[in-house]
Amino acid sequence: MKLLKRLIDWIDVRIGVREVAEKELTGYLLPRTINVWYSMGSVLLVIFGIQVLSGILLLIYYVPDADNAFKSVTSIMNDVPFGWLIRMCHAVGSNMMVLVLLLHMFSVLFMGSYKSPREFNWLSGFILFTMVQGISLTGYLLPWSQLSFWATTVATNSANAIPVAGPYLVEFLRGSKLVGPPTLGRFFALHVALIPLGMAALIGAHLFFLKRTGVSTPPFGQADSTNQWKGGSYQYEDHPGGIPFFPNYALEDLRSVFIYLALFLAVVFFDPYLFFPKDAFLPANPLVTPAHIKPEWYFLANYQTLKIFPNELIGLSVQAVAMTFLALLPFIDRGRERHPLKRPLFLVCAIGGLLLWLGLSVWGHYS
Ligand code: HEM
Repeated sequence: MKLLKRLIDWIDVRIGVREVAEKELTGYLLPRTINVWYSMGSVLLVIFGIQVLSGILLLIYYVPDADNAFKSVTSIMNDVPFGWLIRMCHAVGSNMMVLVLLLHMFSVLFMGSYKSPREFNWLSGFILFTMVQGISLTGYLLPWSQLSFWATTVATNSANAIPVAGPYLVEFLRGSKLVGPPTLGRFFALHVALIPLGMAALIGAHLFFLKRTGVSTPPFGQADSTNQWKGGSYQYEDHPGGIPFFPNYALEDLRSVFIYLALFLAVVFFDPYLFFPKDAFLPANPLVTPAHIKPEWYFLANYQTLKIFPNELIGLSVQAVAMTFLALLPFIDRGRERHPLKRPLFLVCAIGGLLLWLGLSVWGHYS
C-alpha cells in the first residue's frame, strides 16, 4: 500500500494525475435529475472497445482474399481455440451496437438534448451513425459467403439509379464491374482501418463537445439554473450541487454496462445465429443467385423503400431527404422547450417516423 502511494506520488509530481482525477472524475458534477438514458453513451463506448478488440483477434486468422476468406472464417469457427467465441462476439456485437445506438439517438431526440447549443454533439453523433452503417455494410462482405456476396451486389447496385454518375460510382465502390476480389480488398481496408480510425476520432470530438457544452439537464423534474441560455449568451458552468461523475454516476454507467453484457452474452451463448440467415453458411457463388436475399434488420426499411417506388431514383431521393432532415434537425427544430409532452408537433412526427420505420422493416422482412 505504502509502495503504491509512493508510486502515485512520484507520478503525480510529474503529470499531476490527482488534479486531473479531481477535475474530471470526482469534481465533474452532473445534474441531480440525470437518468438511466444518459448511460447509453458509455455502453456504446464499451461496445466499440469490444468490437475493436474482437476484430483485432479475428485479424490474426482471417485471410482477406476471395479464394481463402470463407475457408479462413470456417477455420476460425471450427479449429482456432475460442475462435467461435471471438467471431460470435464480433458479429452479435455489431448488431447490438446498432440497437444501443438507436436507443441513444431516441433518448437524445425525446429529451431534446440535440437542441442549441448541442448542434455539434448531434452532428458528430449523426456522422458516427452513418459510419456504423458503413462499417456494418463493409464487414458483411468479409466472410465471402453467399449472403455477403449477394447482399453487397444488391446494395452497391442501388447506386446505379443515380443519373450520369451512378454507373461510375458502382464501379468505384466495387473496384470492377461486378462484385469480386477487388471489392473484398477495398471493403477490407475500409472495415479494419479507415472507418474504425475515423470513428475513434469522431468519438473523441463527440466527447469534447459534451465536455464543452456540459451534459444537458433532463427536461423532467426540477429545472437547472446553470448550463442554460441567459439573455442570448450561454453559461458553461457545471451543475453546482449535482452528483459527482465518480463514483456516483460511474456506478450507474457500470450497472447499464453489466445489464448490456448479460443480454449480449445471452445471445452469444444461447442463440449465436440469431442474426445469421442460412445463406451465411454457404461460400460465395457468383453464378447462383439465392432466392431471397435480405439485408440486416436495420437496413430492411431502406431496402423496402427502394422496392415500393416505381423507380429506384425516387426511393434513393426519399431516403436522402429523410437523412438530411435528421442530420439538420437541431437547425430546423429551434424551440427552447425540451419536454417531449410539451412539443406536440415533434411528438407526432417522431412517433409517426418510428412507426413508419418499424412498418417498413416488418414489410421488408416478409416481402
Ligand atoms: C459510436 C457511437 C456513439 C458513442 C460512443 C457516443 C457516446 C456518447 C456519450 C458517452 C455521451 C455522454 C452521455 C450520454 O448522454 O449518453 C453522448 C452524448 C450525446 N450523444 Fe452520443 N454517442 C454515439 C453516437 C451518437 C449518435 C448516433 C447521436 C445522434 C445522432 C448522438 C448524439 C448525442 C448527443 C446530442 C449527446 C448529448 C446528450 C446530452 O448532453 O444530454 N450520439 N454520446
